[in-house]
Amino acid sequence: MFGRCAQGSGYLVTAMSCAGAAAVRSLWRLRTGALRPLPAYGRRISVRFYSSRMTLDNINWAAVDRVIRVDHAGEYGANRIYAGQMAVLGRTSVGPVIQKMWDQEKDHLKKFNELMVAFRVRPTILMPFWNVVGFALGAGTALLGKEGAMACTVAVEESIAHHYNNQIRTLMEEDPEKYEELLQVIRKFRDEELEHHDIGLEHDAQLAPAYAILKSVIQAGCRVAIYLSERF
Ligand SMILES: [Fe+2]
Ligand SMILES: [Fe+2]
Repeated sequence: MFGRCAQGSGYLVTAMSCAGAAAVRSLWRLRTGALRPLPAYGRRISVRFYSSRMTLDNINWAAVDRVIRVDHAGEYGANRIYAGQMAVLGRTSVGPVIQKMWDQEKDHLKKFNELMVAFRVRPTILMPFWNVVGFALGAGTALLGKEGAMACTVAVEESIAHHYNNQIRTLMEEDPEKYEELLQVIRKFRDEELEHHDIGLEHDAQLAPAYAILKSVIQAGCRVAIYLSERF
């Protein structure tokens, strides 16, 4: 049974579950600023997107769960890293530079918080761990000086950008039109992470003590964090 609801200049079509049917099919168009409860594969979905061009049909929930959970964890971790850096270097000359990057990370986290609610994705159980580890990493590298903090930024942002590129590839292979809005979010954030990476290099990251080793160790940690956050 299909339900059709008039809405502004557009319309919303949802596939309602048939009584006794094993599979529930859904088709919906996402409307600007709209928050709607929709039935989809037994999951109640409320979707809020800023454009109406994304159509979801037979969404790959496993992939979306994984993408949103790990990205939320990553942005949360990035926020904790910058919080740690600001605790040490907030009143120095690089304080405003770090604050600006942190402000963008706050926007990234806010968006993934919204997506988690919209898609009913649970956060990783490792959030308390990333809270402590992220802050310790930010503060610890900042104690090496601003070069240490920037080396941390270069290492982490390079890893996150690489991770986002992998996700873009995965979603493009799945269905670029279906995941268009999610792809837009990830592409935008990927570009901003690369800007942070470049800011780190511009602020003498490579002059940090044992830069190459520090970067390698942090990036190994990022790979572990991504692996765990996708799965747990
Ligand atoms: Fe970010
Ligand atoms: Fe970033």
